[in-house]
Amino acid sequence: MTAEADCAGPAISVEKLTFCYPGSELKALDELSFQVSAGEFVGITGPTGAGKSSLLLCLNGIIPHFQDGKFHGAVKIDGCDTFDTSCAELARKVGSVFQDPEAQIVAPVVEEEIAFGLENLAIPPREIDQRIAESLELIGISSLRHRSTTQLSGGQKQRVAIAAAIALKPKILLLDEPTSELDPIGTMEVFEVLRRLNREHHLTVIVVEQKVNILVEYAGRLLIMKNGRIVCDAPPREVLERPELLTSVGLRPPPVGDLAFKLKQRGLYPGALPLTVGDAYQGLSECWADKGI
Ligand SMILES: Nc1ncnc2c1ncn2[C@@H]1O[C@H](COP(=O)(O)OP(=O)(O)OP(=O)(O)O)[C@@H](O)[C@H]1O
Ligand SMILES: [Mg+2]
Repeated sequence: MTAEADCAGPAISVEKLTFCYPGSELKALDELSFQVSAGEFVGITGPTGAGKSSLLLCLNGIIPHFQDGKFHGAVKIDGCDTFDTSCAELARKVGSVFQDPEAQIVAPVVEEEIAFGLENLAIPPREIDQRIAESLELIGISSLRHRSTTQLSGGQKQRVAIAAAIALKPKILLLDEPTSELDPIGTMEVFEVLRRLNREHHLTVIVVEQKVNILVEYAGRLLIMKNGRIVCDAPPREVLERPELLTSVGLRPPPVGDLAFKLKQRGLYPGALPLTVGDAYQGLSECWADKGI
């Protein structure tokens, strides 16, 4: 049975969501509406100030519960309206991982970091121990269990933060620019973990990311935001077919997809646009083989 079949309604439903921070007439979020089904891997991108972080804060309930402002519309997580549901209750459904691993890791040792959220939910000690082991195993960092959190690399810290979120067994994982502090290898490690959690454990993943090239490779759906609105909601290949969607909001199309798009316009690239270098190699090899090269 798929995750979609388990869930009666959408995992996330956002209806005409508008939010203004106190003292500002500017709509950080402006009549946003969209739904996400259980098991989707959604990438959110857009220029600075577009409202990406504000949107995630609405999805985990920090807005409206801990951030004042004018809030209109409705956000439902797994059928529960965030307005009427406490953040503690929402934390059982939605896990959050933020940009800066330094800021979110509070405990001196990895296992204590993971225990922290579980203790807050009053999970019994024996189960806490089990969940620590399970979540570290799932993220592939069991060997870090007793390590000092200050001695980890950026990528390791981000994976500990993901393990801590996963230990709470959420159905949905929200990540706000989780790789902004990471090098290309660390970035890939984090996205590989997300892909596995999504594909093998049916976790719904919502990730805000500036690097569009990594999003087209991993996400099944891209939301492009600008001025508090969603200006594009489409699968990655459709976004590559319309590079102006990205350039109009000041983002650069991924180089591999962009090159193939330009070649395709001249009849020099066959079939669907490539999401990865491997896809491009395959596409070009086929094209050149056809031409006897
Ligand atoms: N705490 C706050 N108080 C007042 N205004 C805020 C606050 N946080 C964000 N804003 C404003 O809300 C709008 C959306 O900000 P948000 O942080 O959601 O954008 P973002 O897309 O995440 O940007 P970035 O890519 O820089 O992280 C911006 O105009 C921003 O200045
Ligand atoms: Mg942000």
